Amino acid sequence: MRALVTGVAGFIGSHLACELIKRGDSVIGIDSFTDYYPRKIKEKNIESLREEKKFSFIQADILETDLSEILSRVDCCFHQAAQAGVRKSWGKEFEIYVKCNILATQRLLEEAIRSKLPRFVYASSSSVYGTVEVLPAREDTLLNPLSPYGTTKLCAENLVSLYQQNYGLSSISLRYFTVFGPRQRPDMAFHRFIKAGLKGEEIEIYGSGKQTRDFTFISDIVSANILAAESNLCGAFNIGGGYRITLLEAVREIEKAIGKPLKIEIGAEQKGDVQDTSADITKAKKELFWSPKYDLSAGLSLQVEWMKDNLL
Ligand code: UGA
Repeated sequence: MRALVTGVAGFIGSHLACELIKRGDSVIGIDSFTDYYPRKIKEKNIESLREEKKFSFIQADILETDLSEILSRVDCCFHQAAQAGVRKSWGKEFEIYVKCNILATQRLLEEAIRSKLPRFVYASSSSVYGTVEVLPAREDTLLNPLSPYGTTKLCAENLVSLYQQNYGLSSISLRYFTVFGPRQRPDMAFHRFIKAGLKGEEIEIYGSGKQTRDFTFISDIVSANILAAESNLCGAFNIGGGYRITLLEAVREIEKAIGKPLKIEIGAEQKGDVQDTSADITKAKKELFWSPKYDLSAGLSLQVEWMKDNLL
């Protein structure tokens, strides 16, 4: 296929583009290098891609570039670009979340219609759920985001759905549950914990450490995207690792993976942080024929290896 990957220099976008190239697909990658984390990390993410003949890179902001010309040349758009991070989305930062997550998605959808784009895959998030009464969360659970970030991801997911209903855009939303693995964003828990462990520094656990997460390995996210692109299914699908553990249990697994104990400091609970996430992945298994292949320890050892070589 000919694919457009937005946010191609990010954690998920870069892995997805690498896999598409490996399969023989051609990829146009777009990224504006927002300053959420250092540009040199993102440049490194796409270093090997830049050597590929079937990869072309456009440095641009989705809101400011001629998208119709780009979209008319592809079969599928994987929309991974976003202002990420749950805990930073309060206060004046919210404006950036609205711009990057809502306005940019709406612009992309408008241009997708105009260019008759055949398929649109949207990177949604577990944070659209918020606090859920019955876990694991199914796709038809009441959506009640707890953070401003989650609200913007839900708004964009709703936009994707209404362009499908009103204009017939073939689209699907994948709700990712806390993704980890090589190139994980530097603000995320596992990245911070492994880095601190390797350097002998302290980690800070927000709250009791009893919050639970459904952690998902990056390769499983990539395979879900490719299956989603190749199907004609519409609507939202949970993409989660299929297990739920506390943050403290995850810390014990990281200690095993790096071979030494972590120095833990307990910090304050963070506003917007959901206490528990857990994905019911029955729908993705049944309809998308997707299932996660990596458990926590397999994924963590790959992330630790990567981090040893990339202690930026
Ligand atoms: C992650 C991503 O950062 C979001 O972009 C994404 O949308 C979301 O997953 C998702 O599932 O959709 P989060 O679950 O907060 O959000 O991921 P982490 O940053 O890895 O945090 C996991 C847990 O560790 C949270 O409870 C957080 O408060 C905690 N944490 C994080 C710490 O205790 N200490 C830290 O230094 C960092």
